[in-house]
Amino acid sequence: MTKFPPISERVPYMLHGADYNPEQWLAYPDILEKDIQLMKEAKCNVMSVGIFSWVSLEPEEGHFTFEWMDQVLDRLHENGISVFLATPSGARPAWMSKKYPEVLRVEANRVRNLHGFRHNHCYTSPVYREKVQMMNEKLAERYADHPAVIGWHISNEYGGECHCDLCQDNFRDWLKEKYETLDKLNHAWWTTFWSHTYTDWDQIESPAPHGELMVHGQNLDWKRFVTDRTIDFCRHEISPLKEKDPSIPVTTNFMGIYEGLDYWKFAGHLDVISWDAYPTWHDTQDESMNAASVGFTHDLNRSLKQGQPFMLMESTPSMTNWQDVSKLKKPGMHHLSSLQAVAHGSDTVQYFQWRKSRGSSEKLHGAVLDHYGRSDNRVFQDVKGVGETLEKLSQVTGTSVQPEVAIIFDWENRWAINDSQGPRNIGIHYERTVQEHYLPFWERGIPVDVVSMDADFSKYKVVVAPMLYMVRAGVGEKIDRFVGDGGTFVTTYLSGIADETDLAFLGGFPGPLRETLGIRSEEIDGLHDGQTNGVAITENSLGLQGEFESRELCDLIHLEGARSLAEYTGDFYEGRPALTVNHHGKGKAYYIASRNDNQFHDQFTECLVRDAGIERVVDVELPAGVTAQVRTDGQTDYVFLMNFTGGEKEIDLNGRGLTSLVGDESGNFAPFEGKVYTREAKHEHFSTFR
Ligand code: GLA
Ligand code: ZN
Repeated sequence: MTKFPPISERVPYMLHGADYNPEQWLAYPDILEKDIQLMKEAKCNVMSVGIFSWVSLEPEEGHFTFEWMDQVLDRLHENGISVFLATPSGARPAWMSKKYPEVLRVEANRVRNLHGFRHNHCYTSPVYREKVQMMNEKLAERYADHPAVIGWHISNEYGGECHCDLCQDNFRDWLKEKYETLDKLNHAWWTTFWSHTYTDWDQIESPAPHGELMVHGQNLDWKRFVTDRTIDFCRHEISPLKEKDPSIPVTTNFMGIYEGLDYWKFAGHLDVISWDAYPTWHDTQDESMNAASVGFTHDLNRSLKQGQPFMLMESTPSMTNWQDVSKLKKPGMHHLSSLQAVAHGSDTVQYFQWRKSRGSSEKLHGAVLDHYGRSDNRVFQDVKGVGETLEKLSQVTGTSVQPEVAIIFDWENRWAINDSQGPRNIGIHYERTVQEHYLPFWERGIPVDVVSMDADFSKYKVVVAPMLYMVRAGVGEKIDRFVGDGGTFVTTYLSGIADETDLAFLGGFPGPLRETLGIRSEEIDGLHDGQTNGVAITENSLGLQGEFESRELCDLIHLEGARSLAEYTGDFYEGRPALTVNHHGKGKAYYIASRNDNQFHDQFTECLVRDAGIERVVDVELPAGVTAQVRTDGQTDYVFLMNFTGGEKEIDLNGRGLTSLVGDESGNFAPFEGKVYTREAKHEHFSTFR
């Protein structure tokens, strides 16, 4: 049996809870006891405490008031509720901004913010770092040994960037370390263009809307620097906690596919990954793309630590208050949405927040406990239902997912492509495109890892790399080996264009992938919104048939050993190859030359998985909007079947050895129903597939 260890050995089961902000209620002394009683009723066993507590812990500089926190932690522990204790750096007291203005963030326009909001501090400021260190030392000193504390919740949703003088100096130091000489930097950034060559390090500044924005290599390095600076700050926060007790796990809550931080770089500095999920359920009639995109992000968070279970640190038990329209979850959806996180590898379901704030900007944001203050309402009962389900799923804790398919979602590639100024500046849609490639796997109930281009591909049968514009050193060779050894590689238009400093490859696109793919891309056509071309499938051994619509981007390629499987049906490039396969070594490399409709992805994926021998979680045709996922420990498979439609669905589950764990045994699904079954594991242990 192979399992990951639980998040904390002291709570080796599924965690259920919320952000708990009792400091907002200190003037209401009876609230704590009421809360605890209701937490138990809702089957909550963990709370994230202290996330925005700084001013309640240090109301004046150097004057600390931990007594209320002592009481909260004691009472939670006495009632069997564990705590992820936060460091409060996400928001700071007004006295600090007033006395030390350097802690305030400077925006890209070089204007320093006033006090207010949150997440608005300078990551470099020595004063802020000193204050954070002092606070974190005190928290560690006082609470690391507290029996309630099972983990540290570092800050909150790190994000944004600071352009102050201190950060500028730091950026220049970072560049000196990376490039050593200005010559190397100037070459990497191609600065002779428009006479932008730097002749002294002091001339270099961060990108600015009223300054330099056109040097793509510089923009890219700034983004890398912001990630490194934020990680450095996070490590600074972590160090006093680890010094006191290295065994207590640390996490910080990520924001899904937030663009500003390279989570691939961040992940290694945390013991467990956690993220905050706020899907916009019910925005459209067909929930599939939405549900698949949430599934994709769960898979990403699981893949950030190579399959290690993650935490769903925040989700709303009801509605948000910041989306364009905040729809209520229809009956079943809260349970289904929570189950979805677990299906993809979460060992927790947590909410923002436990009790609705009475005032300020989140007073109307959904919470477990409404202003009404009692448990006899729909949201509370839904939450309790999830608690009951998580108790049944205790044995799933620590199990993981072992996909045969990986999709590349790479932050640096994304930054470069979004900044590239090319054939379509009204929407290059990297994020959406990656998810469109993911969707057909989701629809077939085929688990997928979401990886960076640095991943070890050898454990997968299929690697899909949509728009792999940037190919970092060594990646082309790795892909070539993967295909040579029998893997199936799929990539698209706008791949193999630039190296890691965004210098275009010379000698023909797709640069280092050209030989593996057996094609050369000569030109790429941009299409306006509403303009289309067509792709007609020609004779092929995959069994692929039909005609599909292409839009937005059409690549004009030459065959250099690859075989054409489809051709364009229109424009001056009618008849030219639109989809190719190259038999290379023992494997196959596909090139999709145009951005095609979802029917294409559906049909193509169907052929691909058949050809590559990819297993589905359950070997049945799933109705549209229904997916299957599986977690396993190598002895028992935990099969999750989830109906993301508002209609009843039926799946033939007879003779598949499934025993019900959550929900009944039948293959009948109510609207938005999710069920869990067990079966004997199909594969003995976590292993490579080829
Ligand atoms: C984020 C924050 C929370 C809260 C929620 C509201 O995830 O971390 O503090 O503001 O959004 O949805
Ligand atoms: Zn700064």
